[in-house]
Amino acid sequence: MNQDSSCQEDGVLNNGQSHDRGLTPELIQKLVQKSHEAKAFAHCPYSKFPVGAALLDQDGRIFLGCNVENACYTLGTCAERTAIQTAVCQGSTHFIAMAVASDVEDEFITPCGACRQVMREFGSAWQIILTKPSGSYYVRTLEDLLPFSFGPEKLALK
Ligand code: THU
Repeated sequence: MNQDSSCQEDGVLNNGQSHDRGLTPELIQKLVQKSHEAKAFAHCPYSKFPVGAALLDQDGRIFLGCNVENACYTLGTCAERTAIQTAVCQGSTHFIAMAVASDVEDEFITPCGACRQVMREFGSAWQIILTKPSGSYYVRTLEDLLPFSFGPEKLALK
């Protein structure tokens, strides 16, 4: 995805749902800004690839995350999962949207497969806001990013 399909100008989400569960263009812009602020806290001495995340819950709370790498490389955690873990530890599990930010200027940052599955634990119908440092963004549902997914309700079918 390297088209600059910014929807800042008209405030309409790329999937046509402009006010999905209270997600206004103003809130989107706030999440975009906060995800880029969170990026400043990234601990990424190995990859030198800072990532930030800002997660909005149904009560309007915003939780930040950044990637936290480790000298034992495989123990590093992505920004998206850090934000989710922070939220869950504070009693928040009903999510509306998450903005993700990196320093890559000509493409929207997209969550890795592991993070998509961790997001999926908390539903498929929420919005993921892919951003660029310019502030432009591209919004898709988690269902778009992870179709035919496995989630907690499948366990109940057994
Ligand atoms: N990373 C994230 O935190 N989120 C993403 O969406 C992509 C990648 C991190 C993991 C690692 O610390 C660094 O970026 C390089 O992969």
